[in-house]
Amino acid sequence: MITRDIMRDTTRDFQKYYNPKLRGELRMDTNTNVLGSNPAAMKYLKHLEIELDGYPNTYSDGLRQALAELYGLETENFVAGNGSDEMLDVSFKTFTNWGDNCVVPVPSYTLYEYFVSMNGGKPVQVDLTDDFQLDVDGICKADAKIAIMPSPNNPTGNTFKQKDIEEILTRFKGMVIVDEAYGEYAKNSMLKRVNEFENLIVLRTFSKAYAMAALRVGYAVTNLNVSDMMNSIKIPYSLNKISECAAMAAVKDQTFITKSVRMVTNERPKLASGLERLGFEPYPSDSNFILAKCPIDHSVMVSKLKEKGVLIRDFGNKRRTENCVRMTVGTEELNDYMLKKISEVLEESK
Ligand SMILES: Cc1ncc(COP(=O)(O)O)c(C=O)c1O
Repeated sequence: MITRDIMRDTTRDFQKYYNPKLRGELRMDTNTNVLGSNPAAMKYLKHLEIELDGYPNTYSDGLRQALAELYGLETENFVAGNGSDEMLDVSFKTFTNWGDNCVVPVPSYTLYEYFVSMNGGKPVQVDLTDDFQLDVDGICKADAKIAIMPSPNNPTGNTFKQKDIEEILTRFKGMVIVDEAYGEYAKNSMLKRVNEFENLIVLRTFSKAYAMAALRVGYAVTNLNVSDMMNSIKIPYSLNKISECAAMAAVKDQTFITKSVRMVTNERPKLASGLERLGFEPYPSDSNFILAKCPIDHSVMVSKLKEKGVLIRDFGNKRRTENCVRMTVGTEELNDYMLKKISEVLEESK
């Protein structure tokens, strides 16, 4: 029988991704929008009349045009694809030679190291500072071809200082990817500034504020030179036509995004204080989720809460987020329910 030795040696140790067994739990573990499916996208899908025999547009020009109008940029500033995960893959695929170092902050999005290694690169971990900000010197001094940073950061929730990102863009001798998967919730963004820098790639997704994770749509925004490079590497037609058209409908109707962001801005501080009252130590967040240190063992909290029908994400075994859990900010009603279930777990573990 063949063993995993047959696999490519740099990726042989990869484990399958987070895939919890579900029994109808309330999902507060994926940072998606709790207000439900994007209404403009749903309206499009309900009245869908589409021919299935032809390919979609090769580079998703319709969606790229809609995004260009939204942000006051050009269609050619955009690369569109199958979730921002594909855009991460394309970014590393475009620039990584075999063995190139790529800077990955710790803690940050768990899949970065996977995408770096999958594309032949070597992840170089650079720790965030104690207050989860970028170690600018550490990143700039790393002998690396690419540096990636999510702002707001997942799992910590905070944005990085704009001046630090700018300093990295000018001092770091390589490509800089700023992953703004939660950018709609944040005050700072590099998206509209892509033409100012030779080496900046900003990533965005329709999976979070847009409430369209099921359709898998993401995009990169960068200068015309870099977008041409990335589009020539990306798998043609990777974004299917139905998802592209639904995303176009969603872009043209921003009212849902505004409402969703307002809900999170209002409810986040209330959830944080509720957690504090229960003995958690929540970290400041500019996003639609909160990372918090648990007053009891993290794995007990997550598993007991799951038994009570609420799923949150466990980061307690990872370096720099020891005994921490991450949960999505819900509506007032959802947060009250989640806090009630958490307090039951705490009561029962006394
Ligand atoms: C920081 C960050 N980047 C990228 C992604 C991937 O998003 P998508 O659903 O667009 O592939 C996620 C998803 O959780 C994320 O948290």
